[in-house]
Amino acid sequence: MANINGPSLLRLGIIMTLAGVISLGIMFFWFSPSKNCPPQVFRPDQNSQINSAKSNNYVTEKAEEKPIVLLWVWPENYRFEFSDCKKFYNIDNCHLTDDRALYNDADDVIIFHKAISWDLSNLPPSPRPPFQRWIWMHLESPTNTKKIPGLENLFNLTLSYRQDADIPVRMRLMTRKKPNEDFVIPKKDKLVCWIVSNNSPSTGVDTRNIFYREFSKYIQVTLFGRAYAKFLNYNDYYPTMASCKFYLAFENSIHKDYLTEKINGPLVAGTVPVVLGPPRRNYEIFVPAESFIHVNDFPDAKSLAEYLLHLDKDEDAYRKYFNWRKHLTPSPHLILQTQEFILPICSACDHVARRREYKEAHDIYDWYFS
Ligand SMILES: *[C@@H]1O[C@H](CO)[C@@H](O)[C@H](O)[C@H]1NC(C)=O
Repeated sequence: MANINGPSLLRLGIIMTLAGVISLGIMFFWFSPSKNCPPQVFRPDQNSQINSAKSNNYVTEKAEEKPIVLLWVWPENYRFEFSDCKKFYNIDNCHLTDDRALYNDADDVIIFHKAISWDLSNLPPSPRPPFQRWIWMHLESPTNTKKIPGLENLFNLTLSYRQDADIPVRMRLMTRKKPNEDFVIPKKDKLVCWIVSNNSPSTGVDTRNIFYREFSKYIQVTLFGRAYAKFLNYNDYYPTMASCKFYLAFENSIHKDYLTEKINGPLVAGTVPVVLGPPRRNYEIFVPAESFIHVNDFPDAKSLAEYLLHLDKDEDAYRKYFNWRKHLTPSPHLILQTQEFILPICSACDHVARRREYKEAHDIYDWYFS
């Protein structure tokens, strides 16, 4: 008996121990936040019966394959390495390609508005795979947008600077919990600067030119850029901007949400932007009120010039324009012209990788021009 009981007790002991270890393991696995599953798993809408099968499927699929995002044409023919999305923005969750042979497998197709021919003959072929979404990519303001007919109800997602686009694109200031006490206003040897690369009247630059002509009667402005034959090497962009006390961040045309890298540059460089564009309230959605000067804060160009001349003498008042840097961090934008579309395309990649829902974008022009 003892001979039989000894080993069987031992066996029982081993089995109990093993069971304990296994159930502990299961409990640990069950209750610990998994590193493999994306947080989307816990989205409340996925708790519903209808969605759960699909979304579980989605989660496992996602681990295996990233959505294929086909760039139908290269915007303005400015090519870049798709790996730049990882390099610059740490975006790596879709499979970007320009290989049209993958069209039938592409989950999403990015179509650059300006490249679409008037007769629509260069759009992707029909029939469109039923799961595929088309992304209308357009970053110009309505003033500089051609209303190519026939596009009104073709797309699924919009990609634009507009905040209410499906995929809004812009550089944003990031919050920081630990205050940054290290910021030092860069040394200044110029008062007001302006880099102007485009001065073609057709792009809507009238407003800013009229304002500038009046403004420059009262204060000295140092001009740079293609439009003034004083081309700025891209390595000099941020340092030059930093050496100015104020920078004219004048948009070419005035539209809701149309504030571009023109304001991001001075915010990054440590210069006070003087903005001309949509109303102050619109700017304040994206940047703090005390970080910039709006031309509409003044009755006319002369009083703006006088205010800047006053700030030039009043160091304390000037320094207040940088208080925001304690709790917010700006991010430099890419400045080469050929890099213009990297952020929008990477943003599209990141968006579609996270959100796979059905969507139709109706009457894009009604929305865009409203
Ligand atoms: C995409 O949009 C088109 C046109 O509005 C629509 O016919 C199609 O069903 C949509 N597809 C998806 C997957 O959202």
